[in-house]
Formats: sequence, structure tokens, C-alpha cells
Amino acid sequence: MPAVAIVGAQWGDEGKGKVTDLLASRAHVVARYSGGNNAGHTVQIGNEVFKLKLIPSGIFYPGKINVIGNGVVVDPAWLVEEMDYLEGKGVSLDGLRISEKAHVIMPYHILIEKLEEEEKGAARIGATGRGIGPAYTDKVARLGIRIVDLVNRDALSARLDVVLPIKNRVIERVYGAKGFAKEEIMDWASKLAGRIRPHVTDTSVLLNDAIDSGKNVLFEGAQGTMLDVDHGTYPFVTSSSPTAGGIAPGTGVGPRKITKVIGVTKAYTSRVGAGPMPTELKDETGERIRERGQEYGTVTGRPRRCGWFDAVIVRHAVRVNGLDGIAVTHLDTLSGFPMVRVCTAYRYRGQILRDFPANQAVFAECEPVYEELPGWPEGSCAVQKYEDLPANAKAYLTRMAELAGTPILIVSIGRERTQTLVLGEVF
Ligand code: IMO
Ligand code: MG
Repeated sequence: MPAVAIVGAQWGDEGKGKVTDLLASRAHVVARYSGGNNAGHTVQIGNEVFKLKLIPSGIFYPGKINVIGNGVVVDPAWLVEEMDYLEGKGVSLDGLRISEKAHVIMPYHILIEKLEEEEKGAARIGATGRGIGPAYTDKVARLGIRIVDLVNRDALSARLDVVLPIKNRVIERVYGAKGFAKEEIMDWASKLAGRIRPHVTDTSVLLNDAIDSGKNVLFEGAQGTMLDVDHGTYPFVTSSSPTAGGIAPGTGVGPRKITKVIGVTKAYTSRVGAGPMPTELKDETGERIRERGQEYGTVTGRPRRCGWFDAVIVRHAVRVNGLDGIAVTHLDTLSGFPMVRVCTAYRYRGQILRDFPANQAVFAECEPVYEELPGWPEGSCAVQKYEDLPANAKAYLTRMAELAGTPILIVSIGRERTQTLVLGEVF
């Protein structure tokens, strides 16, 4: 009864969608447990590129069950749009299940996030603007609306009577903006509820039954370890727990049932949004990585900040997730450089730091300590077997694994499903 988790080992966008897609072929159930439509998972099948924000990447395999767990925040308008998009491409939604306990991103969450980010000014997080933070805030403040409320008119009406006056007071009296009328929200919800209702269920029961009956379950992480609200670069983080520890509360599956945790990392580093990034390259090398890696956000289209591989943060990810191994993506993107660098530690005012500091002002001053390795030629990663990779690329991977302190299980050498080298058995 293997239950395998895929988590981001960096600042998100590591290529989790591709790795999930690969492993989903052997899974019976694929489940998301955190985040919302701030995630952007790209899956290329043949010549077609699919971009998903909410629905698990396992949806492309017919007959699999795909779960949006209770730890996810669901914008119902985005969900319905994504359902339409997939159906339009001939993808069946029969296997889609949505937790009745997942919290809903309401229209006022999106407005409140915009108002808060404006208020923060230069200190803004650079959020994706999808209302993720305010939705999680309300969940913890016990002012949330859950899917079970959204699909039941009476429940929604009763909940809004409690919640909406509080939200409107903040919007109107704190920010001086225009609040929402209850009817407006009831209308918005009723247009979406009918489409969502048939997929709503108790997904904790479903997942536990699947595991107990020997099925393969895959947990698909969103975001990454450095965006984790506890273990990331706070306050420049998302508002949920994308690390492996978030799976239990985010799905209702006990932690002892998770048999393996795999971290996904790029062969370099990227970050979107604000906050320090020690290995960021603001020169033509960074530009070249961005162009070759197509490093533009799936959700917001923002150019991603790119730089050399930072082993300090991946080592941190290995620790806080208890990783069994890593999947390295974008190895091909680094081809053609005469030499490549890896950051092994930071230098802060003459002092060597082996772990990343919690204080963001200190982190902002950290300079990478680099090790230089010889590069490998353009086009040389287009191989069928790991053994056939150029010796320098293999030496680079070996060094990454050594520095991270965990084995490499998968190497991705291109966007397509088939451009993947699997080194170890996963399911
Ligand atoms: P995937 O699943 C990269 C970043 C945002 C911002 C911060 C907070 O594609 O790896 P939020 O809207 O979540 O409150 O924004 O987190 N961020 C991501 N960066 N990939 C993601 O997801 C991200 N989800 C959030 O850019 O800096
Ligand atoms: Mg992304």
C-alpha cells in the first residue's frame, strides 16, 4: 500500500507537475493537499502543453481518481474554468473528487488581498493575487466558507449572515473600499455550485480506503519548501504547508501511512515574487537560464528570478520533509555552459553559514560560497539511459546529491513525458 508524496524542494516551479504525471501512471489515486490556484503545473503530452492550477496532474490518465483535499483552498470560478478547459480538450472528469471540507476562496478574499498588498507597499509579498492568503486566514480565524457550504444554498446563506458583515466592515471601514452584497455572492455561488456538487465527497474516507485496500496513492505537492508558512522564507511565503508535514492535516491521512517522500528540485534555482535569493544571477547567465528554461510563471506570467543551484536550501528541504530522494529537473537547461556552479554554504559578514538563517535581513546579506564544476555540451543530455549522460553532467548530479545528502531518483532532461530518466523504483 505505497503512498508516495512529491514535494517542492525549492521556491516552487520545480517541475512537480511533470514528476507527478510520470508517477501517476502507476498510481490509482492522485491527491493535492495544500495551496490553491496559485500553483501552476505544466504537463506536456506529445506536442500538447497542459497547464493546471487546481486539479491534480493525474487527471490526464483515464480511470484514476484525482482528489482536491481539504487542505486546498478552492476558488470555485477557477475550478469550473479548469473543468471546462479539460473537458474541452477531451479529458474526462469522472475521477475528480473534491473534499467537502476544503475552504472556498470567496470574491472578497481576492479584493482583501489586493488591498493588503497595496497597503504593504514596498514590503509586499508579491502574492499571486488569487486570494490564497486571506482564504487561509479566514479558515484559521473560523470565518471560512467550506465547499460543503458552497454547494448547499441554506448553509451558505446562514454562513454569509455571520461572515459577510465582518468582511464588509473591514473592506469598507479599514480600507474605504466597496463591500459585497449578499445576493451578489449567492448568485455567484449558485452559478458554480451545480457543476461542482457531483464531485464533492469525504475524501479522507476515500483516501484511507484506497490505502487500506492496497492501492497506490500519490500526493502531489504544490509550491515548495521555501514557501512553507513555517519552514520557508517567512514572511515571503505562501499561507499553507506545502512540506510533507502538510499532507496529514491537508488530506485526513495519518502521517505513518505515507511511505515515501520525494523532493523535486531544478538543476538550478528559481524564485517568483519578493524576498532574498542568494544565488540569483542578474546578468546574462541568469537571462540565459530564464530563456532556455522558459522561466515565466504559469499563473501570473511573471519572469522568474534565476540562479545557480543552492544546496543549502535543498539540504534544508531534505531535512524538513524527511526526503527519501530527489527528482532533478531541467538538467538539459544547464547544457552548453563552459562551467556550472553550486552554492555549498553562505558567507555572512565573514562567517560561514551551513543552514539558512530565519532572519530575512541576514538572509538578504548572505553571499553564496560557490564550487565550480565543468559543464557539458549543448544537446548532450538527449539520451535514453542515465549511463549515457555526459560524464560532467553525471559528476554534477553526483555532487548535487552529495551536498543535498540524499540520492537522486529521477532526472528530467526535457519537457516531454518520455524525456525522463528513472534511477530508482518508486512505486
Ligand atoms: P507551484 O505549485 C512559485 C509565491 C508567490 C509569492 C508567494 C506568496 O507552481 O510551484 P501566494 O499567492 O501563494 O500567497 O503568494 O508565493 N508562490 C509561488 N511561486 N510557484 C508556486 O506554485 C507558487 N505559489 C505561490 O509568487 O511570492
Ligand atoms: Mg508556479
